[in-house]
This record gives sequence, C-alpha cells and structure tokens, in this order.
Amino acid sequence: MSELSADGPRAVNFTLNGRSATGHAEPRMLLTDFLRQIMGQTDVHASCEHGVCGSCTIRLDGEPARACLTFAVQVDGRRVDTVQSLLGAKGELNDIQRAFRKHHGLQCGYCTPGIMMSVAAFLETNADPTEQQVREMLSGHLCRCTGYVGMVRAVLEVAATRRAQPAGGS
Ligand code: FES
Ligand code: FES
Repeated sequence: MSELSADGPRAVNFTLNGRSATGHAEPRMLLTDFLRQIMGQTDVHASCEHGVCGSCTIRLDGEPARACLTFAVQVDGRRVDTVQSLLGAKGELNDIQRAFRKHHGLQCGYCTPGIMMSVAAFLETNADPTEQQVREMLSGHLCRCTGYVGMVRAVLEVAATRRAQPAGGS
C-alpha cells in the first residue's frame, strides 16, 4: 500500500504490464505523467488531457480507462496495462496490431495505443461484433489523420479470425 505521509510523493505499488512495479508520485500527479515520466512508459500518449480524445487510454484492472483523468495514486494495488502488454514474449505483434498494420488502421500512430487498448477489451466481451458496434466502440477515440475505415476492417477481421480459431489466441 501507499506510504501515507501527509505531503510529498507517495509510493505507488502496482502491476504494470504483468510485472510488479513501484514509482513515486505526488498526490495530484496524473497517471499519464506518472506512466510516461516516472515509469518510462512512453507508449502511453497524451493529447487533449481532458478525457475527450482517448489517446491516453490504458486498461485498469482490465477495463479501458483514461489515464489523463486518473491520478497516479489511484492505481496503487491495481493492474495497469498499456499497449506494450499486447506484444508477445519475444516482442512480436499480436493479432490486433497485425490487423491494424494490414488494413492501414494507423498513420502517424499517435492515437493508436489508446485505440488498441479499447479494442483489446472490447473483443474480450464481443466475440462477434457488428460493424455498428465496432464503430460505437471507436467513437470514444479521435484520430486526426487516417480515418476509421481501416480500423473497423481490422477489428472485424480479428474477431472473425478468433472465432474461427478459438484456441489460437494472438
Ligand atoms: Fe486523455 Fe485525451 S489525453 S482523453
Ligand atoms: Fe494519426 Fe490516428 S493515426 S491520429
């Protein structure tokens, strides 16, 4: 648990991408700043910093969450996953990442880590989504350069492939 000193940085003990981690954060430090600046997790992107764009989305205990609307101290004792968690043991891309590349679901890639966190969570509970459901899920994310058609195709393809190979994983 956190050190409960009245002022100053507090220890944040949490699980980051499957590994135990500890960092220190002032009580008002945002999770985006904590992950990037303290933990070196630069795959977490910040853009609007007020909960609109979705680029900072991480998974908090499995649920997509806006890191820019979360205080670092709130993740004490919890699990945080960033887009890095999608990689295989040898750094290979998972099926979502491969599909985004195949279908040109990214251009500059700034929005992509957050989108992939939402996609990963979405597909765990939506094995056979409609295009409309995919679009509604993506509507929580703003992409300024590549558009959404390729992303939709990628998500639908991953869902179809997983259904065809239920034991295959990524
Ligand atoms: Fe968090 Fe935009 S940076 S939603
Ligand atoms: Fe550039 Fe989405 S790929 S903002």
